[in-house]
Amino acid sequence: MTSGACANSLLIIFLGINMKTIVVSLSLACLMFAGNAMAVDMPADGKAKCGACHAIDKKLVGPAWNDVAAKYKGQADAEKTLIANITKGGQFGWKMASMPPKGMGASDAQIAALAKFIVSLK
Ligand code: HEC
Repeated sequence: MTSGACANSLLIIFLGINMKTIVVSLSLACLMFAGNAMAVDMPADGKAKCGACHAIDKKLVGPAWNDVAAKYKGQADAEKTLIANITKGGQFGWKMASMPPKGMGASDAQIAALAKFIVSLK
């Protein structure tokens, strides 16, 4: 769902076809869009290089990034530790599987940005 859906529905309203149904679907479409915009979304690099194994709010192959943020909450060197761990891969006590070094080929800059993103999660 993108903002395009809202704009498209508006256009249809202009055409004046079956007003009642369209007003309802317009508000639904815009509500869904607003809901998505408010939720924290994984950055594009994260989806591309990590998304096969990680999600923000649920376990996949690896831990939810919210849980990682909780694990490191209040640790001053959390960001540095995460950069090191993501870069070298392996196991970090989650007893899940072994993470491949750099996920699916993330660059050092992408890893630094993603580590910052993960520690920013609450
Ligand atoms: C092939 C699957 C896979 C990919 C791809 C992957 N991970 Fe992981 N990741 C894992 C697994 C499995 C674990 C948990 C290892 C364990 O059991 O301790 C993990 C753990 C982590 C942790 C927790 C580290 C800690 O110190 O507790 C972070 C952070 C993380 N991954 C970030 C990333 C990022 C960022 C990427 C993309 C650049 C990525 N992962 C790509 C599988 C993956």
